[in-house]
Amino acid sequence: MRASMAFLPRSTATIRLQFSRLSSPLNGACIRPLSNWPTHFRHSKALHPLHAKPTLTEIANERDMADHMGRQQNHIWSKSELEKALATSHDHHTPITLPDKLAYGVMYYGLYHPFNFITGYTKIDPSPRAIEWRLIVLESFAGVPGFVAAGFRHFRSLRSLQRDHGWIHTLLEEAENERMHLLVCLTMFQAGPITRLMVVGAQFAMTPFLFLTYIIYPKAVHRFVGYLEQTACTTYKNIIDHIETPGTRLHEAWANLPAPEMAKGYWKLSDDAKWVDTLKCIYADETHHRDVNHTFADMKTDDPNPFVTMHREDAIRAWKIKNDSAASSSGVAN
Ligand SMILES: [Fe+2]
Ligand SMILES: [Fe+2]
Repeated sequence: MRASMAFLPRSTATIRLQFSRLSSPLNGACIRPLSNWPTHFRHSKALHPLHAKPTLTEIANERDMADHMGRQQNHIWSKSELEKALATSHDHHTPITLPDKLAYGVMYYGLYHPFNFITGYTKIDPSPRAIEWRLIVLESFAGVPGFVAAGFRHFRSLRSLQRDHGWIHTLLEEAENERMHLLVCLTMFQAGPITRLMVVGAQFAMTPFLFLTYIIYPKAVHRFVGYLEQTACTTYKNIIDHIETPGTRLHEAWANLPAPEMAKGYWKLSDDAKWVDTLKCIYADETHHRDVNHTFADMKTDDPNPFVTMHREDAIRAWKIKNDSAASSSGVAN
């Protein structure tokens, strides 16, 4: 248990702060090549008289962060990454400040425990039916906060005529990732009338609440989502453990189910992947959402997003995997 735990991004060593907060009001407006301005102050060694001179590194970072390649690509988990993620299922943030305690209370006592009761979920030997509709409702709701936060930051950027500092894309990727979790679950389970009613009710009740909270105090929403993801992590880890434990109801029902084709395409799973391999990828995604949202909750709203370079790394990794598999299926040696 770690108080005010500093959640670290997926590949900490590769994180670089891409967003340099520059002091000039003209920053970000420079789009002409430097070669067209041979006498510009940026090319001289003298300090800018208004102290508004960005360094060449900062200019390079400006270009880097404006590159939007692959920002909706999900992370493709390697086997070792999945194992590391599975080991973090009990990582959690301990609430200390009043807003954090409120977010914790709403999440655990207002939603998590009542939701366990309503869905009939028990930690020991849960029934497949209880899990099925739990996952549909959970994933349907989990796709809401990222989209609300991204939408709010998008509109704020437009109306304030200021940049967003790279958060929007991470939030949108999270929302899309959750929606894909839902769609993958729907290839395995049927949503009955009560499940559909809960899905609609959760969206109608929670969306205005999240939007209003985000306007007043965005950190609280990110902390709330961090706690939500903690519960998702423990739920998925428990499900995976039971599937892999002979003699349990989940093992009997799900241990030999193949992964749906949609999951194989989304996480680039092998042809013989099982349903439990899909759940491990979903679980690993949830650990990332947990870490991202707790990190965002610790940051100021105009701090640069430390996760922004991951989207490009994820896109490059996905492209390489797809390229390698296309080359091997066509017999081309790499
Ligand atoms: Fe999810
Ligand atoms: Fe999530």
